Amino acid sequence: MKLYHPLKIGSLHLPGNLFLAPVAGYTDRVFRSLCVDYGADFTYTELASSEALVRQGEKTFALVKRAQNEARYGIQLFGSSPDVMYRAAGLLVPLSPDVVDINCGCPVPKVTKTGAGSALMQNPANLGKVVEAVVRSSRENLGGVPVTVKIRSGWDSSSINYRECANAAFRAGAAMVCLHPRTRAQGYGGKSDWRQIADLAAALDIPVAGSGDLFTPEDAERMLRETGCGAVMFARGVLGNPFIFNMTRDLLEKGSRETPSYAARFDAAFRQLEMLCADLGEKAACREMRKVFCAYAKALGGMPGAAKLRNALVHAETAADFHAIIESGV
Ligand SMILES: Cc1cc2nc3c(=O)[nH]c(=O)nc-3n(C[C@H](O)[C@H](O)[C@H](O)COP(=O)(O)O)c2cc1C
Repeated sequence: MKLYHPLKIGSLHLPGNLFLAPVAGYTDRVFRSLCVDYGADFTYTELASSEALVRQGEKTFALVKRAQNEARYGIQLFGSSPDVMYRAAGLLVPLSPDVVDINCGCPVPKVTKTGAGSALMQNPANLGKVVEAVVRSSRENLGGVPVTVKIRSGWDSSSINYRECANAAFRAGAAMVCLHPRTRAQGYGGKSDWRQIADLAAALDIPVAGSGDLFTPEDAERMLRETGCGAVMFARGVLGNPFIFNMTRDLLEKGSRETPSYAARFDAAFRQLEMLCADLGEKAACREMRKVFCAYAKALGGMPGAAKLRNALVHAETAADFHAIIESGV
């Protein structure tokens, strides 16, 4: 099979297999919208708290709203109570997600101490119950949209149990599993172990998506080729670089790809700023965009004067400040 190909996740037919991973603080609907424009085949929201949703948290609902051009998207939930996850998934009806994803990878103590995120992997039986509850809620409330699950290798090096957790998710009705092959103890450090993705892709009867160290189109090509995974999910590699989807598709289909110019890069950043201003107002948008502009300056590497530029960007207060900084090159 060609490396770039359509993918079926349960009842959902996707045109291709280049996905945007959930990345808290970055993959808001404005950035997801850019990613769709630049060729993402499927996009996920960042993790949203099931507890906050059932308390009718306005902010949490805003976090998981669909972008205008997002023909298909997945909403990621976290939680450890099957009952709360069932109810939270049911509350997504007005947003009509195309997939509901369950976070079993978040390493942040605020999340894990509640038994959610990567802590679910310490209790595969409960993980299965959570997946079963969300699958049931999807069937009863959301027209049976597929439920996917994003896991790590395990909690730490002495408890590598991705296979057991993926099987529990599969038996409970999950339609796809994404594996980020680092343990919770590793956080985001060291190298992800892609052999585990290959192992799971060969073992499971549903598609396996791969995540971990996808910083360039060449990384994605290698992951697809070496592991046989069904899809790749870009995370840190897409920050400041939404072009990575089309670049990867070019590489996979034509055998080569171009690198966008600095000008094209900042055009995208300014589009993101404009859309975010419309969503949040200028003040809040500019605060969010400081780190985003820095990511654009950092992405694709080797920009002259990048450190100085980032220093100025983190103090920008208005859209005009961003324009002045980028136009003057400082
Ligand atoms: C800042 C940050 C936020 C993240 N937020 C989420 C999240 O909300 N949900 C999730 O499942 N994974 C989250 N991840 C994990 C990524 O989706 C991805 O699996 C991980 O970064 C490995 O891919 P990479 O090495 O290519 O970045 C996050 C990662 C980072 C660095």
